Amino acid sequence: MESFIQLTSGPAPRRIHRDVGHLKDDELGRYGFFGRTAHLYRRNDPTRYRTEGDLRFVDTDTFGLHPSDEADPAGEPLLMFHNQDCRILLSRRQAPMPHLVRNVDGDELWFIHAGSGELETEFGRLRYRPGDYVYLPKGATYRQVPDEQTHALIIEAVEEFRAPKGGLLGRFFPFDSSLVTTPQAEAFEGDGRDEYEVRLRTREGRTSLFYPFHPLDAEAWKGDNVPFVFNIEDYDVINSDTVHLPPTVHLFMEATGVYVLNFLPRPAEGPRGVERIPWYHRNADYDEVAFYHGGSVFGVDMPAGLISLAPQGMHHGIPERARERSRRRHDEDGRVEWQVIAIDVRRRLVPAQVMIAATPVEVPEEVRV
Ligand SMILES: [Fe+2]
Repeated sequence: MESFIQLTSGPAPRRIHRDVGHLKDDELGRYGFFGRTAHLYRRNDPTRYRTEGDLRFVDTDTFGLHPSDEADPAGEPLLMFHNQDCRILLSRRQAPMPHLVRNVDGDELWFIHAGSGELETEFGRLRYRPGDYVYLPKGATYRQVPDEQTHALIIEAVEEFRAPKGGLLGRFFPFDSSLVTTPQAEAFEGDGRDEYEVRLRTREGRTSLFYPFHPLDAEAWKGDNVPFVFNIEDYDVINSDTVHLPPTVHLFMEATGVYVLNFLPRPAEGPRGVERIPWYHRNADYDEVAFYHGGSVFGVDMPAGLISLAPQGMHHGIPERARERSRRRHDEDGRVEWQVIAIDVRRRLVPAQVMIAATPVEVPEEVRV
């Protein structure tokens, strides 16, 4: 039962995530980092185990994957992971779509890792560039016109994406929603063809609608169910000098069972004895996906383009050797420069066969999130 009074047994550190000494700080919590929690101060690194069986960590270089939209203008994104609440796909389109798309099974939230271009939508044009999130409401019709090859994650949520509540910090946190870019209304001209295909994006089967006119023909719009773009440069990172904050403070958007977070550059925690990297945990209620956009952690470059999955209930975290290194380098490292997109999901994710078959990437221990 959750209680204001928390219990302690044994020589636990007085303050959380601080002065852990030779013990290993390991959180067993419910509902990510929101619910009841217990910290176990262990003798051994809890990530040092061998696995046999069905649940597995996935570490895959997304540049080694080949969605059919990479080579074929009429191609599709590649499914990487799915569960009842969401799908995570990869797109690497380099040619304009000859068709249009309408996702009829969920909202889409894109993260642009590389490339620029625009999305023509029923609401007008949206330019995109690296570091952009692009939100496309369920049922909205659009067409992608890249300037160049565009490497993007597509997070599809069955229930709608919502901005998290500001809570104690008020409406400008966790991000200032006045900084989103929305399209200017524009009715697109046709190119003289007899029919325009709108391909319905669905979880099962294939359906296309064919219109005898250009389907993006709205001359005006109003309302709040609209596409938008938001760049991670405009995300204000919440930070504390005296304690390493849980990842949930870096939330960007949420849908039922799906939480999208940003881990972005920020000052490192200050006082000696304060842990600067996340404690060990097994996230009992959430599978965790991390997509490495770029940057570095304490002098070690992030493997840009890597996607990794940590299944719920299985210990993960930066190993002890790297923790000791971060303590030794306390005076040299004033900042954490990482850029990671994290997707935490309530129900177990199923990796697509292509992810299971892909050659696992060796991830530098220092940059595990
Ligand atoms: Fe985690």
